Amino acid sequence: MALTPQEVIQNLGDLPPLPRIAAQVIRISADSDTSTKQLQNLVRLDQALSAQLLRVANSAIFGMVREVTTLTQAVMTLGFSTARSVVLAASVKNLFSRGPVGPKEHLLWEHALVTAITGSAYSRAMRIPEAEEAFLAGLMHDIGKSVLTMKFPERYGAVLLGLPDESSDGITRELDAFGFDHTMVGEALLHAWNISENITAAVRWHHDPIQAPLEHRRLAALVALGNQLALDLAFGLEQPEVLAGATWEALDVLHLQDASYQTYRTQALAAFEADRALLTDF
Ligand SMILES: [Fe+2]
Ligand SMILES: [Fe+2]
Repeated sequence: MALTPQEVIQNLGDLPPLPRIAAQVIRISADSDTSTKQLQNLVRLDQALSAQLLRVANSAIFGMVREVTTLTQAVMTLGFSTARSVVLAASVKNLFSRGPVGPKEHLLWEHALVTAITGSAYSRAMRIPEAEEAFLAGLMHDIGKSVLTMKFPERYGAVLLGLPDESSDGITRELDAFGFDHTMVGEALLHAWNISENITAAVRWHHDPIQAPLEHRRLAALVALGNQLALDLAFGLEQPEVLAGATWEALDVLHLQDASYQTYRTQALAAFEADRALLTDF
């Protein structure tokens, strides 16, 4: 019997708060006339974020003559949606790196960012209007692993690095060791942060999208495909094969045959290559 988010929280104790700026950025709606202005006003308050946004905007226009020097230019250059993604990613980044940052934490962070980029790229390629949600859900999909690393460094370290064998995947090892897995921890955290049902469910079911409630299944499937592509590209701690089951379910949910999957995968890869600047500048 799976634990409820509340029970998971009780087992975990205090959870990290959602960074203030991230909470505010999530609330800016993409289709309002004032969204760009609102985003700039938020970023302006934070020097590190402003610098980050300018840096990414300048990499995005690499090779062009003029340099991006103001936030207004930066948001115009990147477009609202990418600018918002950069701000979100930058503001949640330190959730992945509390305490000493080793190669493992760094890899978890890169994995999250690549999953965010590729998941939303799949959404765009397939013309599913959930690219923004796919980005945020991708960014957060394994946040439960960061929480577990934070709360139980030794115990979870052993689970995370346990040798993958045929009979036990990471989820099973987590369930055996804790009675819950990283998707349930992620659900509990996003629940506590008041993140939308759709994103919370996608995080909860990214290893098992068919089990998601019908209205959230598509987003869970997009995250699963992004997760797979991230591991295929070697951004992550695990071998790509561990996700075979989840990916198969995702294809089923999205009604994709192998040929169309390969087409969308190629497009998502191309989009990722184009967005690589996001990665190198973090
Ligand atoms: Fe996961
Ligand atoms: Fe993942």
